[in-house]
Amino acid sequence: MKTINDFDLREKKVLVRCDFNVPLDEQGNILDDFKIKETLPTIKYLIQNEVKVILMSHLGDPEGEMREDLRMEPIRKKLVQLLGSEVLMAPDCVGKKVEKMVEEMKEGEVLLLENLRFNKGEEENSDSFSKDLAKLADIYINDAFGTCHREHASILGVAKLLPAGAGLLLEKEITTLKKMMENPAKPLIAIIGGEKVETKARFINKISEIADFILISGLIKKEIEEKSPILSHAEKIIKPVDECERGRDIGPKTIEIFKEKIKTAKTVFWNGPFGKTEEEEFSRGTQEIANAIIESKAFSVVGGGETVEFLSKLNLLSKFNHVSTGGGAMLSFLSGEELPGLEALKWHPSLSKKQVFSDQ
Ligand code: 3PG
Repeated sequence: MKTINDFDLREKKVLVRCDFNVPLDEQGNILDDFKIKETLPTIKYLIQNEVKVILMSHLGDPEGEMREDLRMEPIRKKLVQLLGSEVLMAPDCVGKKVEKMVEEMKEGEVLLLENLRFNKGEEENSDSFSKDLAKLADIYINDAFGTCHREHASILGVAKLLPAGAGLLLEKEITTLKKMMENPAKPLIAIIGGEKVETKARFINKISEIADFILISGLIKKEIEEKSPILSHAEKIIKPVDECERGRDIGPKTIEIFKEKIKTAKTVFWNGPFGKTEEEEFSRGTQEIANAIIESKAFSVVGGGETVEFLSKLNLLSKFNHVSTGGGAMLSFLSGEELPGLEALKWHPSLSKKQVFSDQ
């Protein structure tokens, strides 16, 4: 797989798939800008290399229709604030107007395309939409780890039409997560919160091959009891022994047991909250787990939208060694599944750009 450093970027137009799918409030304010901040190294690298930087992402799920409340303008404003320089806004993600804007851009300038999912072709991975996107640039960089599990045009289709590689964030995510799975300092303790054991069972089985213990939330415990999924190392699983307010949080005895276990860890992987963290009174268990991981000094990897949002609110993200921008993508990757976005980067186009567009 090529990375951004492998390209001769001189005078090039570079199309970057980012994951700017961030939570917004009803007024369109960004509630957590972590994923945007994590993309800055790639964007700054491209600006320094004086290329035309074209950024694209989805935001929410407008299902192929334009939605005023899901326009990319709040993302553009945030980028301006974080980069300290102007970011141009495209009126759409493809089409003649956008192509003209790209032609007129100066090297070192940044253009943000409109929400990819306003166009049906994105989720359908349509050839014509992929070609329209590819037309905008000479090189494609994927820096959207959080979206690599989607077979969408901006992840899959475009990567097959242009010389393609991984951005700095994508490279960091893969390297760190791979290292944790292949060579973790032991003991490794996996902490799996949230719910939906069906979607997590494969991951729990995979990580239990290398983890010494797996601490699970009350909701996962309940689902295991009700649905009896096949768990290959059930003896490694430590379940909550008490709860607060009918399962809205883990209880004090569980917190103590979990804290004692976490103390012994040299590596900790954590995904998913342990209570209804959106209500402060039920966030004690999750907070105690966060503190225990930080105090343990273990190499810590954390991921998943809700967990990251919770830690971000408490200003604790910098206390973890690696905070993944992926939710579903991270769990798929760690479960050993092939991610379409990563597979696509291994595909080397044998056609030149001219040949690809010769039918038009
Ligand atoms: C995410 O926020 O997890 C990614 O951007 C993927 O978003 P999606 O689940 O809407 O495809």
